[in-house]
Amino acid sequence: MNKKIETNVSESTWQVLAEKAKNAYQKAYAPYSDFNVGAAALTTSNKVVQGCNVENASYGLTVCAERNCIAQGVIGYESVDESAKAVEFTAMVVYTEQEKLTPPCGACRQVISEFFPQNAQVMAVNHLNEQKHWTVEQLLPDAFTPYDLINKT
Ligand code: THU
Repeated sequence: MNKKIETNVSESTWQVLAEKAKNAYQKAYAPYSDFNVGAAALTTSNKVVQGCNVENASYGLTVCAERNCIAQGVIGYESVDESAKAVEFTAMVVYTEQEKLTPPCGACRQVISEFFPQNAQVMAVNHLNEQKHWTVEQLLPDAFTPYDLINKT
């Protein structure tokens, strides 16, 4: 999204999101990959939402933590005025217990680009508290977003 949204997140907020993402990680349903992932995101209304990966015996139906987290934000969204038609987020944390920090997969990058401004940050963190930050723009440059559908010819 291209709208001007304040995306500066304080250190204490990153910490809260990391705790919530860890808590979501503990709920992951990943019996096939044994690769738990937890995510937490902050909405522009200062709500924290969580998601974990949910796998399926029909493997391809697996849904990642990031997309389940965004879905929770969509479900919990209450419009206060007509200017924002859907939930918007300012930050997301992805928690795993991998030595190599876990970046969002390609499908999640596309869905993140739908609901986060380009300059919002996604942080990966692990059990050693190692961290890596990306902007949404870095994760998916030149993303196809709702703005591409405006004034379509
Ligand atoms: N997974 C996520 O939940 N998020 C990611 O960013 C990477 C992958 C999940 C999907 C699957 O349940 C497991 O991790 C292994 O791919």
